[in-house]
Amino acid sequence: TGAMEGSNANRGLWSSRFAFILAATGSAVGLGNIWKFPYVTGENGGGAFVLVYLLCIAAIGLPIMMAEVLIGRRGGRSPVNSLRQITQQQTLNPSWRWVGAIGVIAGFLILSFYSVIGGWAVSYVGTAATGQFTGQSADAIGTIFSDLLADPLTLLMWHTLFMALVMLVVAKGVRAGLERAVSILMPALFLLLLAVVGYAMTTGEFGRAVSFLFQPDFSKLTTAGVLVALGHAFFTLSLGMAVMMAYGSYLPKNVSIAKTSIAVCVIDTGVALLAGLAIFPIVFANGLEPGAGPGLIFQTLPLAFGQMPMGSLFGTLFFILLIFAAWTSGISLLEPIVEWLEEQKGMTRITSTLGAGFVCWALGIASILSLNLWSGFAPLGWIGMLEGKTIFDLLDFFTANIMLPLGGLLVAVFAGWIMSRKAMEEELALSKPMFNLWLVTVRFITPVAVGTVFVYNLVGA
Ligand code: PFF
Ligand code: NA
Repeated sequence: TGAMEGSNANRGLWSSRFAFILAATGSAVGLGNIWKFPYVTGENGGGAFVLVYLLCIAAIGLPIMMAEVLIGRRGGRSPVNSLRQITQQQTLNPSWRWVGAIGVIAGFLILSFYSVIGGWAVSYVGTAATGQFTGQSADAIGTIFSDLLADPLTLLMWHTLFMALVMLVVAKGVRAGLERAVSILMPALFLLLLAVVGYAMTTGEFGRAVSFLFQPDFSKLTTAGVLVALGHAFFTLSLGMAVMMAYGSYLPKNVSIAKTSIAVCVIDTGVALLAGLAIFPIVFANGLEPGAGPGLIFQTLPLAFGQMPMGSLFGTLFFILLIFAAWTSGISLLEPIVEWLEEQKGMTRITSTLGAGFVCWALGIASILSLNLWSGFAPLGWIGMLEGKTIFDLLDFFTANIMLPLGGLLVAVFAGWIMSRKAMEEELALSKPMFNLWLVTVRFITPVAVGTVFVYNLVGA
């Protein structure tokens, strides 16, 4: 634990519990909340999907987050080495460290397209700042967005800039400053979202948006929709790829893992729901399509900024804060890969950041082309469930809906069935009934839920 104390000391003023919450919410709150949650909710019919998503957060996400944090704190090292350390101490099967390896691969794939969407946000800062949204119709704003997607070189430029921002921080190995900034910028993002919700209330369609989000209509929920809700719960909480495990290794022993994890889940869910409440009134008031897909926020929020007083200023600030949220998440996607290269391959931090960053960047080009030149190319389209999915769609589908739940499942099995019970009781320090509730969840509920959703979708395919 020497390294742990060292890095906490670097975080200066902040109590270590607070530092963990900042790092973990920095990773969790990102494009998943503001870009992805509203559009997948729109595509999957609203209320019933939201209900399943909330259930997945509470009954699967939270217990797995606790498991990841506890494994990380117990091992006290990077995920692969934490798992190795625990397996050696308890003379368990060393292959468990491959759980950490899934995370490394998922990180590559997610960051490649995450950075492209981060690039959209970068591009919108300039568009908002130059007043191009002011007084525009929904059609005109739709055109701004489709023009951006149609232009691979512009997309490449912003993707490159976003990736460079992420690499810069990872290469320098300095996160303390950034984490401190989270404590100011996250509340600012929250407040700005509230302001947009306030504007959305004046559109006259707020009630319709609330019932769209919170009145479940189960006839609209499909088997595939349940898989998306489950996958999104993992994606939004940064679970299933050992990020929380890595951060858990920095958590001091006297801090409650349960309370801290609950805080992260509540903040993340709060931001997502607020984003939904900001966007859907605008969707309905302007006769837009809730199921418009990945462009949803880029076609709706600018309308609000174009109509509200001081909208150019608010819009500029909003997209800057969105970039910031995406930046801290992007860092948490690249960091495990770089750490792994350093530890396993003996590379320096700079070399491993440049190498891993370059591969992610290059892979991102496939996602960029999926939006224009290759938009009709569905490499696995002959599989029913993957019909019409571009490379970008496939990367999103396989990482969020398959790899992360699988990684989470392995974490649950490891914690529930493999690790010593005494170690876990010590780490969680919960009352007996609460501990048992958690144990039953990771032992049975999570594996059965994830297994059932997978099997149903395979059968349906
Ligand atoms: N949780 C992030 C978001 O909601 O935007 C995305 C993410 C970050 C997923 C880190 C996975 C991860 F390991
Ligand atoms: Na999130």
